[in-house]
Amino acid sequence: MISFINILIYSLFILSISRMSATRSAYKGNIFAIVGMGIALILGLINLKSEYQIYATMSILLGGVLGIIGSQKTSMSQLPQMVALLNGFGGLASGLIGISETITELQPNILQLFIIFTGCITFSGSVAGFFKLSGILKINDYETLRSTSTILLILNIIGVFYAYNGDIEYIIGFAILSSLLGFCFILPIGGADMPIIISILNGLSGWCTTLVGFSIQNSLLIIIGTLIGASGCILTYIMTKAMNRHLLKVIFSSINKHNEISYLHNKQDIHTGTAQDAAFLMENAHKVIIVPGFGMAASGAQYELANMAKLLIQKYKVDVKFGIHPVAGRMPGHMNVLLAEADIPSELIYSINEINSEFKTTDIAYIIGANDTTNPLAKTQKDSTIYQMPILEVEQAKRILFVKRSLAPGYAGLDNPLFYDEKTLMLLGDGKEITKEIVTNLENDSN
Ligand code: TAP
Repeated sequence: MISFINILIYSLFILSISRMSATRSAYKGNIFAIVGMGIALILGLINLKSEYQIYATMSILLGGVLGIIGSQKTSMSQLPQMVALLNGFGGLASGLIGISETITELQPNILQLFIIFTGCITFSGSVAGFFKLSGILKINDYETLRSTSTILLILNIIGVFYAYNGDIEYIIGFAILSSLLGFCFILPIGGADMPIIISILNGLSGWCTTLVGFSIQNSLLIIIGTLIGASGCILTYIMTKAMNRHLLKVIFSSINKHNEISYLHNKQDIHTGTAQDAAFLMENAHKVIIVPGFGMAASGAQYELANMAKLLIQKYKVDVKFGIHPVAGRMPGHMNVLLAEADIPSELIYSINEINSEFKTTDIAYIIGANDTTNPLAKTQKDSTIYQMPILEVEQAKRILFVKRSLAPGYAGLDNPLFYDEKTLMLLGDGKEITKEIVTNLENDSN
């Protein structure tokens, strides 16, 4: 009976992951995962000794309530930080199991110490990722952090020998050192490379679970951990490909030295326009490509964008497409999820490889809150963190409408030459508000 239930749980998780590959089926994928996890929790509770069942039930209830409150309070734009934190909790749970396992034995084995090491690194690295994504921590001294990481790594290696004796103080000390190492190691990694780091940590949290599964001989944890670990590895591969990065370079060398943004021109060298100008230009265009980025998510402009696209297509017979960069926003698939939420037909949505050849025949590129993913410096500025990252080739369009609130840089902290381009009209303001005004103008204008 138990093995039948186990197979049911594995199948639900595999079905869940397979449904996650498309936005439309992702909802069902989540339902499969919830049901699978629910059955796994009940099975785990039943298998526990009766004196522990009450503690486990209380922990599950507490975690469930905190999870529900957290998800209610997290806006779509804060989701990437939340994902980073959840990866971290996976690592923390594994690390704590590793510690508790060592306490119950006279001498810990290497596997348990390895679980503590990877679990703590995943936890603290994810917390560093959380701080970076929320913009809470601004780092100035990258070199010191790198040297500190090297010292901590050496101390960790020495710490293994002490912790191996099984004294609890040494084991806790080893866990603290590992946590510090994870934090100091992730913090200096270049801003634009964070998508890769988040997917590495995601995979690592899965591998930690697999190790715990081996340690406590639980096949469910081994299989589920491997599913998460393997998908994290695949995601990391996709991300490094998308950003044209070498994995080892991302981890060991790409330090963002550009703390102070150096502006390429005078801020006065830009041409600003109004929503009315934008509506006029777009309703008279043959082809418009909309390029959303983090600012679209932050302003929640997806519904207004859907209205704008609908009006342009139906009322003004404009050919409208959406161009999506794989690292636009702050998490993989960020833009696709939001556009699907607003019911924008998937036939209008194109990936970077599909859309890039179309910009040269495009009248208007409407960039809303995207910055790094369109920045031509990726082709020219060798010392920048986005160098060689493929960009959406918006500069080839006949005109560019750039919606953002100011000339502030994007995540990578770089100025964007497109702001000063002769053919660019800057529409300075909140993404949602500007798009809403454009929609009003499109509705009122006669074609
Ligand atoms: P970014 O380069 O980060 O630029 C976003 C722009 O949106 C900012 O310049 C900001 O300018 C503007 N903005 C913010 N709030 C806005 C609002 N309410 N209305 C209008 N505009 C607003 O965005 P991107 O092009 O999407 O690039 C993503 C960056 O994040 C890349 O560097 C990527 O490597 C990194 N990253 C991605 C991920 C994943 S997995 N997608 C994870 C971590 C990091 P103003 O302040 O002037 O408005």
